[in-house]
Amino acid sequence: DVALADPNADTAELRRAAEVARSAGDRMSRMVEDLLMLARLEARVETRSDFQLGDVIDEVAEEFRAAASEGDIAFGIKASARSIVNGDRDAIQRALANLLENAIRLSPGTRIEIDSGGSDGWTWVAVADQGPGVEPADLEHIFDRFYRADQARTRSDGGTGLGLAIVRRIVEVHRGVIRVASRPGVGTTFLICLPVSGSYGTEPPVGDPVLLTS
Ligand SMILES: Nc1ncnc2c1ncn2[C@@H]1O[C@H](COP(=O)(O)OP(=O)(O)OP(=O)(O)O)[C@@H](O)[C@H]1O
Ligand SMILES: [Mg+2]
Repeated sequence: DVALADPNADTAELRRAAEVARSAGDRMSRMVEDLLMLARLEARVETRSDFQLGDVIDEVAEEFRAAASEGDIAFGIKASARSIVNGDRDAIQRALANLLENAIRLSPGTRIEIDSGGSDGWTWVAVADQGPGVEPADLEHIFDRFYRADQARTRSDGGTGLGLAIVRRIVEVHRGVIRVASRPGVGTTFLICLPVSGSYGTEPPVGDPVLLTS
């Protein structure tokens, strides 16, 4: 604002002001997109179809490949499950994107791995990072709206704390479950389990997400 009001602002200042405005705009449009997605999910607008979870994993990984390499992150897909899921494909894509966005933002210079598989009418995808981890006291809150674990560290990087709340909601409307395992200084793994298309009513597979070591 100051730069824009100042008649003597030089090009560099104006450029900086434009950068700030653009990233605020990007953030705002992402938030609007996320809120619209939530509203659409709640309203049960018919956007359901059968799709391969592995295709969505491949697409999201592709979308984030550049961001990962910018963060000097060794980024890999261990497996892409071929199971068919019925649901809102865009929403599942958004859920995975939100997990990857966090992992990449918080874990520069490390390794991130996406794994997936299936068993007994369920399919699962895990995003594992070697980032800072989450303190046990924070872990039960990270899926809450607007909750951000490390205020001092995270205030500057602009998130709103909606990302994981959206992920959880998306998983819930797909009758899935989400679990997280995290250890400070080691890393964090999020595990999403989804029922395979047409196979509902069985209990989700047991087991905690596995941390990415070595
Ligand atoms: N992979 C992770 N490793 C460590 N901490 C994490 C990870 N993912 C999330 N967190 C913690 O959980 C908090 C909530 O995450 P969430 O994605 O909901 O919000 P955000 O990333 O801060 O903002 P937004 O996603 O709205 O841009 C984060 O601020 C961070 O403290
Ligand atoms: Mg986030």
